[in-house]
Amino acid sequence: MDASSFRHEPIFVEEILSLFPSSFHNKWMLDATFGAGGHTKAVLHRHPSFSIIAMDRDLSSIEWGVKNVKPHVPERSLHLIHANFHQYSHLMKHRFPVFLKGAGFDIIIVDLGVSSPQLDQAHRGFSFYRDGPLDMRMDRTQELSASDIVNSWNERELMDLFRSYGEIYTASSVVKAILRQRKYAPLRSTKELADLIVKKKGWRKKGVHPATPYFLALRLKVNNELEGLSDSLPGMIQSLNPMGRLFVLTFHSLEDRIVKNFFKQAHKVEGQNLTKKVILPCREEMRRNPRARSAKLRVFEKKGDQ
Ligand SMILES: C[S@@+](CC[C@H](N)C(=O)[O-])C[C@H]1O[C@@H](n2cnc3c(N)ncnc32)[C@H](O)[C@@H]1O
Repeated sequence: MDASSFRHEPIFVEEILSLFPSSFHNKWMLDATFGAGGHTKAVLHRHPSFSIIAMDRDLSSIEWGVKNVKPHVPERSLHLIHANFHQYSHLMKHRFPVFLKGAGFDIIIVDLGVSSPQLDQAHRGFSFYRDGPLDMRMDRTQELSASDIVNSWNERELMDLFRSYGEIYTASSVVKAILRQRKYAPLRSTKELADLIVKKKGWRKKGVHPATPYFLALRLKVNNELEGLSDSLPGMIQSLNPMGRLFVLTFHSLEDRIVKNFFKQAHKVEGQNLTKKVILPCREEMRRNPRARSAKLRVFEKKGDQ
């Protein structure tokens, strides 16, 4: 895929840069969700002497970055790795032990959710606006896909999933229709599932598409997004330098709640929650980038030297 078709408009760039610490220890940053490299590029543009470890669980993002970003940033400033930040403590211990032993990061950025290239490519199966296989795996080396869930989970499991991850309390007709349909043939495509939901829930092509919370629930489960996020936040704070800052961008209430509660709990014990009032995008950013409308930014600062 060429540079022009792999595009993602980064959100909160100016807010993040303006909240960088006033002094740095070693100028190392971790971009835990490289995507199309928007945040990484912006940081290196403003702070060319920074060194960045950037990871993504999607190999295509890392391969694209090696070809299209690495050659255009200062030499040795960018280290791209195919990795999942959910295994944060393991990763730090085995691949970057130095960051746990004092030489930590000054900045960590976590920009959650999917990237525009993932949504735009029909074959990745994230979008009901583009017909593709029911896949939704950010990391295509993992086994579990959306199709496995839709075609093999029982009624109770599907109801629980849509309630707890999609906050849908009236999924019964959709779940029953899925079970009926499966008896004849498995549901294979995003369009098939979206059409089934529209048939049961109705939609006049206005407002939020009724498939939205069902697709969100499936994506969160396929990629273990919520559990992985809670598991990795403590390790991230641990690997920050004194006064280093962790920036987390979220896109829906379930993931924002995890970050908010964790920062609240860690406040005073580990450092300071700098966003008791969450940061929202300005009107201009929302106008320019519709994806920004649901974005929230929270920032945590690690304690200084004792
Ligand atoms: C919103 S995009 C990031 C966009 C990026 N900040 C930019 O400006 O181009 C989210 C990216 O994070 C990746 N991702 C999501 N969860 C991840 C995880 N647990 N570990 C590593 N990468 C993850 C996705 O594959 C996707 O490429």
